[in-house]
Amino acid sequence: MEFQERYGLYREMAEEYLRGLFTVGQPYGRLQEAMGYSLLAGGKRVRPVLALAVCETLGGEPATALPLGCALELVHTYSLIHDDLPCMDNDDLRRGRPTCHKVYGETMAVLAGDALQAEAFRLIAAAPGLSGEQRAEAVFALASACGGDGMVAGQVLDVNGLTGGETELRRLCALKTGALLRAAAALGSIAAGASPENRQGAEDYAAHIGLAFQVRDDMLDVIADQAEFGKPVGSDREEGKWTFVDLLGLDGCGALVAEETRLAKSAVSKFKNNEFLLDLADSLSERRA
Ligand code: IPE
Ligand code: IPE
Ligand code: MG
Ligand code: MG
Ligand code: MG
Repeated sequence: MEFQERYGLYREMAEEYLRGLFTVGQPYGRLQEAMGYSLLAGGKRVRPVLALAVCETLGGEPATALPLGCALELVHTYSLIHDDLPCMDNDDLRRGRPTCHKVYGETMAVLAGDALQAEAFRLIAAAPGLSGEQRAEAVFALASACGGDGMVAGQVLDVNGLTGGETELRRLCALKTGALLRAAAALGSIAAGASPENRQGAEDYAAHIGLAFQVRDDMLDVIADQAEFGKPVGSDREEGKWTFVDLLGLDGCGALVAEETRLAKSAVSKFKNNEFLLDLADSLSERRA
């Protein structure tokens, strides 16, 4: 199967699962509507796709990893809703639509993000086809990735502003972006019942992908076509963010993306049936959105 076709299949599995959430109207104002607005607005679904792909590559059934990968998409979406708020990046466009707070107001946007985060853990706790031990391990992996020593820590470093050089910026990105991508690899490995060595290989792959992904994001903030990108171009500069483009220039960024992509591919070079992961690394390094 071609790479694009397999990506499309994984992505559609995730879309279908996500569409099935929040279908029963709850009488809490526009909370569910706001959650669904941001969650079902498109998005590349890279994190669930990676979880499903790692699971299948390591011998599991992708369907087993589906609730775990989608839990990650809920956390990711919450992080985007909060990231766009005026107190953070102050952005008006996300996934090609007005941001959640522009439509529902800041208070509801904060609360929609909060509720998405809690819902993610419920999806894992209730995931079928996994042992109690696997579910506990998955909860541990997600909590470690998204909390105060993971994604949130990265966001704190980001809003505080940087004073140092490349080492500090790499650390920030490993937290704010790398942690959730690594969690995708961890969750896919847990669902597959993978060996510790294979899980380590998958997580190393995702850590390199994570850095390449954020460097590419910083580049796209300068060079993207806004309609294709689905979020504002030039937002980092406007907010006075210090990014990899400031540090290395566009050419230097391109070289760093290429190097991290090479390292990612080398981390899974010993896996059987690794074609999809190799192609995914390449395709993300060239993404336009
Ligand atoms: C955007 O993530 C935030 C970053 C970590 C750079 P994505 O580029 O995965 O956004 P969506 O999910 O496709 O909208
Ligand atoms: C966001 O980084 C990472 C998280 C939301 C955790 P950015 O602020 O660069 O993401 P975009 O560019 O708004 O998607
Ligand atoms: Mg940000
Ligand atoms: Mg932002
Ligand atoms: Mg960005």
